[in-house]
Amino acid sequence: MPSSAEREIARDVLTLSRHVLQQFGSFTAEAQDFSALMNRIALAGKMIARRLSQAGLIEGALGVTGNVNVQGEEQQRMDEYANRAFIRALEQTGLVCRLVSEEMKTPARLPENCSLSRLALLVDPLDGSSNIEANLSVGSIFSVLQPLEDRPEADHQDLLQPGRRQLAAGYILYGPSTQLVYSVGKGVHSFTLDPSLGEFILSQSDIRIPERGSVYSLNEGYFCQWSEGIQNFIRYAHRQGSYTSRYSGALVADFHRILLQGGVYLYPGTRQKPEGKLRLMYEANPLAFLAEQAGGVATTGTEAILDIVPHSLHQRVPLIIGSRENVEEVLRCLEGSLRP
Ligand code: AHG
Ligand code: MN
Ligand code: MN
Repeated sequence: MPSSAEREIARDVLTLSRHVLQQFGSFTAEAQDFSALMNRIALAGKMIARRLSQAGLIEGALGVTGNVNVQGEEQQRMDEYANRAFIRALEQTGLVCRLVSEEMKTPARLPENCSLSRLALLVDPLDGSSNIEANLSVGSIFSVLQPLEDRPEADHQDLLQPGRRQLAAGYILYGPSTQLVYSVGKGVHSFTLDPSLGEFILSQSDIRIPERGSVYSLNEGYFCQWSEGIQNFIRYAHRQGSYTSRYSGALVADFHRILLQGGVYLYPGTRQKPEGKLRLMYEANPLAFLAEQAGGVATTGTEAILDIVPHSLHQRVPLIIGSRENVEEVLRCLEGSLRP
């Protein structure tokens, strides 16, 4: 029986960078580059986690920048910091040519990298920004795309591709612990940051979302603005007695709960905004990739998220994501075959 010291060492060497190589099953240049890319994404996450943990003590860390981002939303200083952390973490690495971000109208181009890599990284650098001032969980969401060969780079049309083509996707959850969850298309795996090592250490392999869960997660404050079908699902959930409501205001935190415990998260469209609030390329697509990899489902209500052919980098989509059976109940309410 290995000693506790040996077990501790065996645990601590299962770092994110090594796990990526295991996922590729090789030590090729491509595998090494992807391992290095995940390490740089993790570095950005560590910088963001560190600043969040001290934000209340750092002058100018909190509050708003006074700018309105491309989404028409008031930008938090932490949004801007997180965006800069991702850009700086990827500069001078040769790993990523373009960075698409919720916080930037046009992608950042990293010219020193473009001769070595054509990859694009798409990020929501800080998700759940409204939670920052209240010291509640927030996250970062990322997606990796290989530009389409047969589409022009002009206007970034070569990035407008269905989420099913993502090479990798994941998120970092800044909660009681800092966790990184990712997939390169071979299952979903989670890592916990050990601040004393500065490493993300494997904490759960091959996460499978339960076929059914008891959680439904959405902002019921918009109830009167939703379609009859969504309102009927809420009435159904209220009357079922087996559902419980959980909603944190951070998609990453709410999705993480659904991934581990099962259930369904919804951000539906409204009559005024039928496309909803969440962005396809760097919120819905990466989480839909993870959900399907874990045996779950992600849909707009009429179309699988991963099949959508995007028309613009910042387009929004309605999102219904989670356990197969729970999403099925939502869809049956939408089509009228299930009534409260
Ligand atoms: P972001 O902070 O990146 O703009 O994302 C916020 C999103 C998502 O994280 C969250 O679930 C949702 O917006 C909350 O929206 P409401 O406040 O409208 O519920
Ligand atoms: Mn977000
Ligand atoms: Mn954001």
